[in-house]
Amino acid sequence: MTDDALIPPTPSAEDYAREAEAQEAFGVSDDQGEVFTSNEPFALFAEWLALAKRHEANDSNALALATVAPDGMPEVRMVLLKDLDDGFTFYTNTQSAKGEALAANPRAAMCFHWKSIRRQVRVAGPVEPVAPEEADAYFASRSRGARIGAWASDQSRKMGGKDALKARIADREEAFEGRDVPRPDHWSGYRLMPQRIEFWVNRPHRLHDRLLFERDGEEWRTSRLYP
Ligand SMILES: Cc1cc2nc3c(=O)[nH]c(=O)nc-3n(C[C@H](O)[C@H](O)[C@H](O)COP(=O)(O)O)c2cc1C
Repeated sequence: MTDDALIPPTPSAEDYAREAEAQEAFGVSDDQGEVFTSNEPFALFAEWLALAKRHEANDSNALALATVAPDGMPEVRMVLLKDLDDGFTFYTNTQSAKGEALAANPRAAMCFHWKSIRRQVRVAGPVEPVAPEEADAYFASRSRGARIGAWASDQSRKMGGKDALKARIADREEAFEGRDVPRPDHWSGYRLMPQRIEFWVNRPHRLHDRLLFERDGEEWRTSRLYP
């Protein structure tokens, strides 16, 4: 049985009215044009991300990344968006579970959800590795501890014991003592090139607004979706 104290109650009409008032602060009103402020999905995404950055407590660039494992099992985990140009870029260990999934099936879906502004963006498309120089530049911007960590962590593999990571960090610190920490071959970035980008904004009574952009050659086709 679900514990009622754990699950928030379904909003009442009064809750929705209060919520709608709070949403006005984020430019959400009856005029839908105020929310979907651009006809170009990357520009629109950048605007929403900037709004989220002002309101989220932390990690406004966090997203759920869904991939399909080599055995066909869907899998999802959070990563951080690190670049936004003609694609959505994140960095990770290429030998991790997600790295293995992307090697077998280089396609992914992303879901951003910003609770503070009650908005969601979903992105899907093929994924390609970033250029080595691009990965080098981003790796170099990370703290020395994070760079050592990238060498020491056998991401997604089972650890021998709770001290195994500490021992590997100490080993790498010794190996790189007094010199720069280069990017390991097994650590790099992936860029998702979207075929679809869907923008969703919360509305009272679950009558949310959804705007879908679908790639059509060089153009984007837009459609409204039922909530
Ligand atoms: C907010 C948040 C951000 C994260 N960002 C990253 C990231 O950018 N890269 C990464 O490899 N793991 C990141 N992680 C950890 C992943 O969720 C995951 O535990 C790890 O990458 C292993 O995933 P895998 O076994 O599916 O490959 C993040 C976790 C959280 C909660």
